[in-house]
Amino acid sequence: MILFHLMLYLWPTSNAIDERLLKPNIILFMVDDLGIGDLGCYGNTTLRTPNIDKLAKGGVKLTQHIAASPLCTPSRAAFLTGRYPVRSGMASLNRLGVFLFSASSGGLPAEEITFAKLLQQEGYSTGLIGKWHLGINCNSSHDFCHHPLNHGFDHFYGIPVNNIRDCRPGHGSVFIKGIKMYIPSILQMTGIAVITLEVMRYLGLLKIPCRVIGYLFLLAVALVAIVLFFFNNFRHLNCFLMRNYSIIQQPWTYENLTQRFTEDAKYFIRRNTDKPFLLFLSYPQVHTALYASPAFRGNSKHGLYGDAVEEMDWSVGQILHVLDRWNLSGQTLVYFTSDQGAHLEEISDNGEVQGGFNGIFKGRIQLFTIVSQILYNCPYSWSNLHF
Ligand SMILES: *[C@@H]1O[C@H](CO)[C@@H](O)[C@H](O)[C@H]1NC(C)=O
Ligand SMILES: *[C@@H]1O[C@H](CO)[C@@H](O)[C@H](O)[C@H]1NC(C)=O
Ligand SMILES: *[C@@H]1O[C@H](CO)[C@@H](O)[C@H](O)[C@H]1NC(C)=O
Ligand SMILES: *[C@@H]1O[C@H](CO)[C@@H](O)[C@H](O)[C@H]1NC(C)=O
Ligand SMILES: *[C@@H]1O[C@H](CO)[C@@H](O)[C@H](O)[C@H]1NC(C)=O
Repeated sequence: MILFHLMLYLWPTSNAIDERLLKPNIILFMVDDLGIGDLGCYGNTTLRTPNIDKLAKGGVKLTQHIAASPLCTPSRAAFLTGRYPVRSGMASLNRLGVFLFSASSGGLPAEEITFAKLLQQEGYSTGLIGKWHLGINCNSSHDFCHHPLNHGFDHFYGIPVNNIRDCRPGHGSVFIKGIKMYIPSILQMTGIAVITLEVMRYLGLLKIPCRVIGYLFLLAVALVAIVLFFFNNFRHLNCFLMRNYSIIQQPWTYENLTQRFTEDAKYFIRRNTDKPFLLFLSYPQVHTALYASPAFRGNSKHGLYGDAVEEMDWSVGQILHVLDRWNLSGQTLVYFTSDQGAHLEEISDNGEVQGGFNGIFKGRIQLFTIVSQILYNCPYSWSNLHF
């Protein structure tokens, strides 16, 4: 979960004092919830990741590289700022520390210094393609105070919140468990209260106006209506695709989504062949809801999860190919990582396990939760921990 992997890919050119090497291009690939054991270069023999393996072969492969949190939002906040997520307010001890709703008013504070901001000041073109997940707005639906364009990126094409099961019809819901836990008991209690009051009133034991029972009944109806409204509108209100500040697809479709991000990334590189650029390609894959384009569906030995990993690998290959075509490989730093390990403990409503393999790093969510809490409480000592 905590382990990360990284590869560097910086080929010195024959010309030692190449101007361009002073400001190398930077490409960051981040995959969502990819396990270290899913990649060929870390020992997987059945999932095919030839492009990433090639990257590893020509670069540096780290086997001990720790994410600041086993959760998207805090891990990404730390990645972008180099600070413990608790310092930017992006960590939580006892609540779910991720943004699940586009209407959340929180996010990475505008005064945080991201690497994108620093590079932008150095004259880099900076693009974020794919997942953000660090907030959008503060006070209204269009102040965009936490938006990527307010954090040093001058190009954004992607999803501002998160890819979750509720975004994809037929893939279940991450909210069902919570709703099943609270709503039925609230409805039961309301029902019992209504019946008890009605019986007592009928027996003449209590004098209460009919209105009270009517209100309780209305409360129950309102609760059911809210739950129905939530499930009917979640996808439309939260799963949308943006280009800069504009919503361009609502809800987003999964068909060829990785292809679209890859095309945009290739176009971004082509637009910037003659000046330094930072490209952060942040894949919504391989988080649930799992998806893969038609060309990859059913091809892997590991179901839809494997298809998604192999499609992501294909995309990495496309980007490296464009670098080679424009002779940019020698002046580009390429970094590949996952935001944390595979989400093995996620089991859908119908018992389907998410997939992914964390290699020798096994453990359950409880363990990781404790670990992440230790991290937050002891910000100076966590780099000494080995797990
Ligand atoms: C949001 O409102 C707070 C409190 O009024 C204010 O301090 C802050 O500047 C506002 N932020 C934006 C981005 O408008
Ligand atoms: C996003 O906005 C920036 C600056 O406002 C602009 O340079 C860039 O071309 C825009 N990108 C797209 C895809 O519209
Ligand atoms: C997805 O890509 C395939 C192959 O390029 C294409 O045939 C198909 O029409 C695309 N689907 C959509 C919805 O764009
Ligand atoms: C890349 O380098 C090769 C060999 O030096 C050269 O023939 C080719 O024109 C270059 N391509 C571009 C796009 O600059
Ligand atoms: C390769 O990855 C798949 C999918 O995560 C996993 O089920 C399998 O155990 C892994 N195989 C090896 C040899 O690591």
